[in-house]
Amino acid sequence: MDNQKPKLFSKAPLPFVGQKRNFLKAFRSVITDNIINEGCGWTIIDVFGGSGLLANNAKHLLPNARVIYNDFDNYSNRLSNLADTNRLLILLTDVLSNSPRGKKISDRVKAKVKDTVNNFDGFIDLQTLSTWLLFSGKQVGTLDELWQHTMYNTIRRTQYEIADNYLDGIELTSVPFEILMSQYKTSDKTLFILDPPYVSTKQGAYALDEYFGMVQFLRLMSLTRPPYIMFSSTRSELLSYIDHIKEYDVME
Ligand SMILES: C[S@@+](CC[C@H](N)C(=O)[O-])C[C@H]1O[C@@H](n2cnc3c(N)ncnc32)[C@H](O)[C@@H]1O
Repeated sequence: MDNQKPKLFSKAPLPFVGQKRNFLKAFRSVITDNIINEGCGWTIIDVFGGSGLLANNAKHLLPNARVIYNDFDNYSNRLSNLADTNRLLILLTDVLSNSPRGKKISDRVKAKVKDTVNNFDGFIDLQTLSTWLLFSGKQVGTLDELWQHTMYNTIRRTQYEIADNYLDGIELTSVPFEILMSQYKTSDKTLFILDPPYVSTKQGAYALDEYFGMVQFLRLMSLTRPPYIMFSSTRSELLSYIDHIKEYDVME
């Protein structure tokens, strides 16, 4: 078992829509109150890993556990190119230096932004770039799509912290949840962390094979067994669903 321990992060090193930074206090106490010996003998699987923030916290707090991060969005690739992202940040900060913060960027400056990005010789982190140029939280799937939008100067003021040790000791995989959960469904001392895209919400920021709707949710529930930690929103009606299961004893 790799019990190297990553540095503890309280937010993801690079932007990620839907990261669970505001739920870390509760998450940390649930895992440390329920799992003893720093996770010895346990496997913890962050099934819908997103930014990997929950996997990072789990491995830091329970370093003896095996922690698996399902990196479905290839976030780790964004992390390994963080130095390029910082380099592009410096270039665009310069391009935007005379544009008022929070305000729409003129067509002339937008053309310069586009030139700078198109001529950049490194990795382009589209999700991060969107947070510097688009109105609050808007995300796009391609650069072409980015240029269609009205742009605002919301560029970040500081460099991103190098996060080389963010995933220390954590195993990475990248597979649809059905495959991963089926593999561990009957394993003992295996905790599923379940933070799926919320049904009935906009999911544009994620790498989706298909929209995560009712059918995916039911598939997920059929593979879910204790112990698990599930995140949900009130709009997803998870609690009503669980009440229904309890009342009618639908699951075996
Ligand atoms: C709400 S986010 C998870 C956020 C994460 N807990 C964090 O703190 O950063 C849901 C994640 O599920 C991923 N996802 C979507 N469909 C999936 C699938 N079929 N199998 C596995 N992951 C999937 C999305 O790409 C997204 O990264």
